[in-house]
Amino acid sequence: MTRRLFVTTALPYANGNFHIGHIMEYIQADIWVRFQRMRGNEVHFVCADDAHGAPIMIAAEKAGVTPRQFVDNIAAGRPPYLQGFHIEFDNWSHTDSEENHALCREIYLDLQQAGLIETREIEQFFDPEKGMFLPDRFIKGECPQCGAKDQYGDNCEVCGAVYAPTDLKHPFSALSGATPVLKTSQHYFFKLSDPRCVAYLKQWTQDGKLQPEVANKIKEWFEPKKDENGQPLSQADSGLSDWDISRDAPYFGIEIPGAPGKYFYVWFDAPIGYLASLKNLMTRRGEDFDAFMADPSVEQYHFIGKDIVTFHTLFWPAVLHFAKRKEPNNIFVHGHLTVNGEKMSKSRGNGIDPLKYLSLGMNPEWLRYYIAAKLNAHVEDADFNTSDFVTRVNSDLVGKYINIASRAAGFLTKRFNGKLGKVSADGQALLTQLQAGIAPIATSFEAREYGKALRDTMLLADRVNEYVDQNKPWELAKQEGQEARLHDVCTTCIEAFRLLTLVLKPVLPSLSQQVEAFLNIAPMRFTDANHFLGEGHAIQTYQHLMQRVDPKHIEALFEAPPALATLAEKAEPAESTLPGGEAIAPTITIDDFAKVDLRIAKIVACEAVEGSTKLLRLSLDAGEGRLRNVFSGIASAYKPEQLVGQLTVLVANLAPRKMKFGVSEGMVLAASHADDKAQPGIYVLTPWPGAQPGMRIG
Ligand code: 2FM
Ligand code: ZN
Repeated sequence: MTRRLFVTTALPYANGNFHIGHIMEYIQADIWVRFQRMRGNEVHFVCADDAHGAPIMIAAEKAGVTPRQFVDNIAAGRPPYLQGFHIEFDNWSHTDSEENHALCREIYLDLQQAGLIETREIEQFFDPEKGMFLPDRFIKGECPQCGAKDQYGDNCEVCGAVYAPTDLKHPFSALSGATPVLKTSQHYFFKLSDPRCVAYLKQWTQDGKLQPEVANKIKEWFEPKKDENGQPLSQADSGLSDWDISRDAPYFGIEIPGAPGKYFYVWFDAPIGYLASLKNLMTRRGEDFDAFMADPSVEQYHFIGKDIVTFHTLFWPAVLHFAKRKEPNNIFVHGHLTVNGEKMSKSRGNGIDPLKYLSLGMNPEWLRYYIAAKLNAHVEDADFNTSDFVTRVNSDLVGKYINIASRAAGFLTKRFNGKLGKVSADGQALLTQLQAGIAPIATSFEAREYGKALRDTMLLADRVNEYVDQNKPWELAKQEGQEARLHDVCTTCIEAFRLLTLVLKPVLPSLSQQVEAFLNIAPMRFTDANHFLGEGHAIQTYQHLMQRVDPKHIEALFEAPPALATLAEKAEPAESTLPGGEAIAPTITIDDFAKVDLRIAKIVACEAVEGSTKLLRLSLDAGEGRLRNVFSGIASAYKPEQLVGQLTVLVANLAPRKMKFGVSEGMVLAASHADDKAQPGIYVLTPWPGAQPGMRIG
């Protein structure tokens, strides 16, 4: 029976680029999705940017753009990561979409109808200068316990005390520096403490579907709050408190129906964004979202990190249940990624930058394989251990698996016209053993026990290697009269290699595609384990499938300066003493360079200049709260519409220049050869994704 699955990963906040933790989660989910598809199941795999909330609103204001522009800029930087690591979502939307606005309103009204929405006056810190209520993280002051200065509104980083922002001594707004004042306002609550919710959640969280450690943790939340002596404060207390789902304007979010100036708290609209992204996908495909979600056989799964369990196991199922919608079948929680046993942090400098990994030419499937090898179905942290990474990739992936093909394929091509032969009894016994091993490996993938799946796969590869070592095709090839045995052994190896590739395919999608081309076969599914390529099947010439990790890669990944040095050593120098057609200019000092103020600028508008074939007129946003008019001699290389929306580099402190067509307030940077006749072409500079208008370059 074909299963119909709706799968998501957590929606990342649209206020920064992905870090390796995001990539780990996406790889975990992507493997599961690919596995399900290989089983013949139908999967809708979606994600989106989590666009709303005060931090994004404030970051956008700082960048001098609207929150939507800010989110769009971040979204524009997503594809290199996703494509780079072969992560294939069916859709990537954002939570400020039309679909999300509509779904949030509908779901809220359903909850209201169910009698689960209540309003209450609450008192909170308000920034009188900014004219807004302050989220806890934007209130600072002295720790009420140890007196440490400059601590956040919810906990002290020095002594670890946890408190309310109103407990801080000498509080101030981190936004304006003003002393906040207490102000009351009406807030909207989802009544999680309602006996209906409590009864429902006790059942939903404890019926055995959740990971045991997650279910046990949640159990504690249902216990009544206790006094200092450990006695329950009230017997009637369910442990669950009502959930404040509103925020006051100004707030970047979705306005609550019937409550002008009140917005849904970002955590109310974010998970609804899962549904909105799916709806966006299905609408685009001309499919019926409502019918899909109404189908009781459709299964819904969310992959998340351990820090957002409450939102996904209490609020989210309760919201869906009481809005009479499909509830998640399960929430798959993973731990964090550590590096060499330590938490990643900027100060330790031990983080893994995903784009740097790719830019060093490191194979994304090494990382997919290694991460998979470290993952299981528990909420355990996975450790990226550098020497273990090199060993697993080089010894297991290349040494044990790839080598099977490389040792057998050459003989088949050279001696047997690329055609497979007969497999004799011992080879057949080996292949039968491999086939029998596939079902348990599939069970491990299904259960997200990827580490076990790969360990078992490597045990099968060991069996194949033992067979190769016993039969030594390279010696058979030299011996007279061993032609048939050589053909038999190499055929067995290739049949075995196909079976191993089949189980590795969810983890190594691109490599598997290359193998499918090499073996001349259609994309593999799990049912393909039941048959063989068979005698007479022709394969293509073997081409090397995967390099080993060079330990230099690892050095370069973790150490910034050697990374550049290593790359420079490796790069082929361009053949010229006059790079780009001209000699390097005389040396300047760093102070000379610092005089040039280079800024990231967004090309907001661009048009041809009447009367000029060379110039384009650009309107640039360099985060100054105004647009600059800049003329640039790039009309031969770009059409205006190619440039609109792109980021570039602006010389921001160049004296304005009066031109025939108007004043040019700066210059955008572009590369060209000195001899533009011999080597025509102009290339406007664009920054790496994630840069924001106004950022200084240096
Ligand atoms: O913790 C986070 O990064 C949130 N942006 C996750 C949201 S998941 C879902 F609810 F949208
Ligand atoms: Zn303290």
